[in-house]
Amino acid sequence: MIVLGIETSCDDTSAAIFDGQSLRSNIISTQLIHQRFGGIVPELASRSHIQLIMSVIKETLNQTDLQLQNLQGIAVTYGPGLAGSLLVGLSVAKGLALSLRIPFIGINHLEGHVWANRLDHPEIDPPFIVLIASGGHTQLVLVKDWRKYKVLGRTRDDAAGEAYDKIGKLLGIGFPGGPAIEKLAKKGNPNYVRFPRAFLEEGSLDFSFSGLKTAVLNHTIMIGPKKTKEHLSDIALCFQDAVIDILTQKSILAAKKCGMQKICLAGGVAVNKSLQKQLILYAKEENMTIAWPLPVHCTDNAGMIACVGHDYLQRRITSSLTLSPAPSLNL
Ligand code: KG4
Ligand code: ZN
Repeated sequence: MIVLGIETSCDDTSAAIFDGQSLRSNIISTQLIHQRFGGIVPELASRSHIQLIMSVIKETLNQTDLQLQNLQGIAVTYGPGLAGSLLVGLSVAKGLALSLRIPFIGINHLEGHVWANRLDHPEIDPPFIVLIASGGHTQLVLVKDWRKYKVLGRTRDDAAGEAYDKIGKLLGIGFPGGPAIEKLAKKGNPNYVRFPRAFLEEGSLDFSFSGLKTAVLNHTIMIGPKKTKEHLSDIALCFQDAVIDILTQKSILAAKKCGMQKICLAGGVAVNKSLQKQLILYAKEENMTIAWPLPVHCTDNAGMIACVGHDYLQRRITSSLTLSPAPSLNL
């Protein structure tokens, strides 16, 4: 079955073709317009999706030498995400499905992030723990089986990626903050300052990054702009160390609590090499294994949506054409 995946939940306009065996094409157009604002502007995001979506779909078809008529199903993200952005992808998917007379299915974006692991590691079998860490979400999930999830903990305020982005903005190093902070942190001194780690109540698998964000802000106010500029890489590293400590320790705790030996990473923050290294180190001590998708499948992409959608459509599970965007959809 040849399935077209569409993803427009945030600031990436993406379309992909998955045939059940291989991801034949995965075109991602990241909207650069938000960089000058240091964050995503929802109205600009939905307008950009409208401008880009048809050419992104055409490009994914061209790359695979397929025509619209060859498609046998359509999978599209319908939540969570920005309402206006979701609406663009969903409307295009419905229009195509209706005119081509093929089934379509709305996919939970978070389920897509989890399935990115299956895309790159087809041998991975549930049960396992997955840490979803992106710009919009940070949660620990027990994947009991494919399509069966139990959320163990989630952030009570900012997502990990959101904290990276806000600290990136504070330090004036551009948007998104994640890749810029990771790069800067390589030259930093780990003993420069110790920022607080919020572990919350004993045994909690929830997250909180707002205290850490405030601590970094207060530190820059205390030392002033000149010293902040001098210590940019030290601050970046000490901030990153705190985020990674929390993500790593909570992931190991989740696996221990559920008696799991496997942990997978998902979402944009999973690209971070220091996070991957620290998790491998901690997991080794506990005889656990760690896996993550290719970087291009960690950040938002339609390939992961096409992959999970293909599975549902094969099972003849489809969505009604009355499906609406669900900005606050949970796993
Ligand atoms: O999964 P994603 O593309 O979009 C959402 O679903 O939110 O994740 C984007 C987030 C951004 O906050 C970005 O700063 C973060 O992932 N990110 C990183 C890195 N690359 C992207 N965070 C830390 N280190 C990175 N190398
Ligand atoms: Zn995402």
